Amino acid sequence: MDPNSSGLARRLAEAGQSHLLQFWPELSPAERADLALDLQGMDFLEINGFFKKATEMSNSSKHEKMDARMEPVPCEVQGSVTRNRSSLKAWELTGLECISQNKVAVLLLAGGQGTRLGVSYPKGMYDVGLPSHKTLFQIQAERILKLQQLSEQRHHIKCCIPWYIMTSGRTMEATEKFFTQHNFFGLDKNNIVLFQQGMLPAMDYDGKIIMESKGKLSMAPDGNGGLYRALGSQGILKDMERRGIGFIHVYCVDNILVKVADPAFIGFCVQKEADCGAKVVEKTNPTEAVGVVCQVDGHYQVVEYSEITLETAQKRSPDGRLMFNAGNVANHFFSFSFLRDIVQTFEPKLQHHVAQKKIPHVNAKGQMIQPDKPNGIKMEKFVFDIFQFAKTFAVYEVLREDEFSPLKNADSQEGKDTPTTARHALMSLHRLWVLNAGGHFIDENGRRIPAIPRDGAAGSVSDDGNRNLKDGTDMPIRCEISPLVSYGGEGLEELVKEREFCATLMIDKRGIHQLVKNGI
Ligand code: UD1
Repeated sequence: MDPNSSGLARRLAEAGQSHLLQFWPELSPAERADLALDLQGMDFLEINGFFKKATEMSNSSKHEKMDARMEPVPCEVQGSVTRNRSSLKAWELTGLECISQNKVAVLLLAGGQGTRLGVSYPKGMYDVGLPSHKTLFQIQAERILKLQQLSEQRHHIKCCIPWYIMTSGRTMEATEKFFTQHNFFGLDKNNIVLFQQGMLPAMDYDGKIIMESKGKLSMAPDGNGGLYRALGSQGILKDMERRGIGFIHVYCVDNILVKVADPAFIGFCVQKEADCGAKVVEKTNPTEAVGVVCQVDGHYQVVEYSEITLETAQKRSPDGRLMFNAGNVANHFFSFSFLRDIVQTFEPKLQHHVAQKKIPHVNAKGQMIQPDKPNGIKMEKFVFDIFQFAKTFAVYEVLREDEFSPLKNADSQEGKDTPTTARHALMSLHRLWVLNAGGHFIDENGRRIPAIPRDGAAGSVSDDGNRNLKDGTDMPIRCEISPLVSYGGEGLEELVKEREFCATLMIDKRGIHQLVKNGI
């Protein structure tokens, strides 16, 4: 392919991106074909427009803190698993009814690159070292299976919860292969729909697209808010419509405790007739680096810690809790009609956020450069950027120790959101389920281990809201219950009531396995 006769060179020149062909004469025929294919699919004027708007927004927000424009979430849109305990059952029943009518789908955001965790494969394939060695994908799949069963038991109708999985150019192939290899973890493969989000090039500060090598652009997924464009372009919205989906639970791949298609959350949002809902955990420390759900100029938004002053972060309500305490755990509810409006009308209005990065590249002299300070930007949309368009919004507060333990970093890094903290959070929760169902744990001398508060076993909660945990072998009790046995702690009495277990316990479909301490 000749870039001149095909019009590619002209299009690049018009967009000020001619440098992308600088090394063309040096490339092999195969490299030329690959580069031409990549370039032909790109709309350079649109990309330049994204760059212009994103950098303008980023420059203006650098100088302006959000404080004066922010207000906490009003009480009437809130629900809480602790403060509204008496409503929980009713929310759950509403959610289960929607599931039984095949109206609920789950949508997993799994297009990220897992850079902080430092693995080259999709994060969902990660094994955090549980006794069963299940991966995050398997845990989520089994929760879906169990929930379908629970709904079927209650309503005596067969149902399915379709699972949409957003991947990216970086994760699609490996994800697809992994699911096929594992026989879709027992789910019907027709109800698992993988699709790909878009990619965008990295740009230097002058708006020039960065080249990773002489024949390749530096590309990255366009953020988890790339979801909305992909829902339209990949035919996913149509698929949802065809299946009669009314409500969608969107969540991130990395939270080991995620209650996929949580019926109580769905039921709460449905009862509130919400377009859009956000699950949150209480932010208790002003300096904890989580975004908070709040209103800005009367519209719902997630505001990052860096966007407000410490003074605002420290403000307290009369009840003593932080005023901006709705910590975003990236678990969202959308009605189908709201999602359709977003895809068809509002998506183009969403602006990209700018992330400054050190981007390896080939320079004009053809040398490979590994920068030691940021040299360019990546542009990303965020999944919660559409909150602003919701007419009815709901905020659902859950307990961090029951529902939120994300896997972000490797064990070798700081002890925050690591495989160890994720593993401990899950085993700590499951230990509590056994105790609540009337079971007991005994030590190697046959003495009952006192039912100490959860964080005593699982570690203490530090100032930044994370559990400080030592390595798994130090946990006094290691307990894992298969999601195929229990979705949220239900149905365990008949298995464990008045029974004593040694400190390493696994309960799965085949029964109860008591394993020798540290012997797994
Ligand atoms: C995210 C939330 C943050 C929340 C935190 C909780 C966003 C933008 N931020 O932060 O408010 O407090 O989780 O754990 O949602 N992903 C894609 N495509 C992409 C980029 C990411 O699908 O292009 C997916 C990832 O695979 C992951 C999820 O989005 O499942 C979150 O991405 P990550 O980069 O880990 O977000 P955080 O910065 O941790």
